[in-house]
Parts: sequence; C-alpha cells; structure tokens
Amino acid sequence: MRHLRTLEDLTVDQLEKLLAEANKQKDYLTGWGKPPITVANLFFEPSTRTKCSFEMAQKELGLHTLHFDVDSSSVQKGESLYDTVKTLEAIGCKAVVIRHPEEAYYNQLEGINIPIINAGDGSGNHPTQSLLDLLTIQQEFLIFQGVHVVICGDIRHSRVARTNANILRKLGAKVSFSGPEEWMDDYITQGNVISMDEAVETADVMMMLRIQTERHGTEGGWSKEDYHQEFGLTIEREKRMKDNAIILHPAPVNRDVELASELVECNRSRIFKQMENGVLIRKEVLAYVLQLVEEEKVYERII
Ligand code: CP
Repeated sequence: MRHLRTLEDLTVDQLEKLLAEANKQKDYLTGWGKPPITVANLFFEPSTRTKCSFEMAQKELGLHTLHFDVDSSSVQKGESLYDTVKTLEAIGCKAVVIRHPEEAYYNQLEGINIPIINAGDGSGNHPTQSLLDLLTIQQEFLIFQGVHVVICGDIRHSRVARTNANILRKLGAKVSFSGPEEWMDDYITQGNVISMDEAVETADVMMMLRIQTERHGTEGGWSKEDYHQEFGLTIEREKRMKDNAIILHPAPVNRDVELASELVECNRSRIFKQMENGVLIRKEVLAYVLQLVEEEKVYERII
C-alpha cells in the first residue's frame, strides 16, 4: 500500500523520480499526454439555468468542467477575484464562466490571459441570457426589425433588461417598457414607457422580468396580489394579446406575481424554449471564445 502522509513516506530515489517525472510533463509528449480542455465555472450568486446550461454545453462539447465552490474556497479567506481567476489560469483552465454580484467585475480582471464569459454581473449585463432571448425571438419572427418587444417589471435592477434593450434597439426592434415608475430607469427606457394595458395590446413579445428582491429588499411595498393586478400579466390581459404574440421570462418566475401561474406553460409561452436555447447559445459562446472551430480541438460540426 502506498500513501503520502508525510515526505518520510518517500525514499530519496522515489522523491527524485517524482520530481523528474513532474518536470517531464511540461512537454505533454513526454508526460501523461495532451490534457483535456477544462473550463471553470464560478458562481458567486445563485443560478440554476445559467450554471446548469453552461455545464450541459461543456459536456456536449466534450469539455471538462471545474466547479469552483465559492463557499469552500479561499475567497472565504479574503482572496481577491483577480487572484482566484489567476490561480485557475495557472492550474490550466482554458476559460472561466463567472457570475458575480458586482457590476462590471470583469474590469478587475485585466491581466488574466484566458477568456472570461460573463454569466451575469450584478445589475449590469447578462449577455448569454440576451443571446438566448434573441434566438427565441428570431425563431418566432425571423427578423428583429419592427418587432415590438415590451420589457415589463423591475427594469432598473435587471441586467436582462439593460442587455436586451441595447441589443434589440441595435437590431432594429421597437423596445418599450412597462412597470412601476419607481423601477424605471431613463438610461435604459429612453422614455419609452407604456401602461400594461397598452403593452399587452401592442406587443409582439411580452418580456416579463423577475422582481429582484435580492437587490432592493421589499422596495415598492406591494403585496404580491396588488403587484400582479397592477403590473403583472394576468389571465385577463393575456386574452388581449395579439394573435402571434409570445411571452418570455428569463426565470426563475415568481408565479402569480409577474405572470399568472397558468401562463407559464401556455401556448404563447416560450419560457422553456428559452432554456432549451440556452444550451445551444452557450455551446456557441464556448466554441467562440475557445476558438474550437479554428483550432479543430473538440468541435466538429455536422453539416
Ligand atoms: N435566467 C437566469 O439567469 O436564471 P438563473 O439565475 O437560474 O441562472
């Protein structure tokens, strides 16, 4: 039986051989062979869809995943985000996926030499969510030009609202907003705020947002029922939507608050399609940043 409890468990010969073999691994031809491509997932905020669909995407691409557990890591001893990511780079990760509560956390990571994929930064951006939303809208309407998207709810605290508003305008969609005045943000809405009643009658896409209680506690002070009646997509409002209009929500959904529970899986809802599309998008993003196509590493397209 071999153990390594202290270095006294090794003879000097064994120790010298171990050091020599470790050194040989600098050249994979003389070591243990070419290592797989490993991507580290660092989630400093809770996630189900983004974390799991990145992991699915990594598995489907044949990549290895390193799950970074924030709670049992040296982050708890005060290690900075930069030193954490630099460590993952040093041990051989080829990219990092990061969700972090701090807006634009990635500005701290100048000097990191592996790709960073933003899985959500505070109220800042959520680019892969936005890409999967775009794919879902495109699958429905084929083009973005002139499609009326109404983003509804907690606009000010939502990275999804911010990211989607910018990119949808750039692609030629008409973007309006609806929700409590307290949660509007002129920078995002550019004054295009409409009532829920106008929204349901004119939208091609009703993009409902989760109330971000983790960012503002109970600000607003509505009961769930009052919020639902005043700003939510009720069963009655859904009946007034245009024939081909669809419902999106990044989820998790506060059922019977942002939208009626019965609407989560109704004919207009594309909420689970968004999740399905999340894996497709995250595979493409991983392939893009790792240049898997260009370097012909693990990525083969079936044409
Ligand atoms: N839509 C979204 O980002 O969900 P998660 O927080 O569960 O990842």
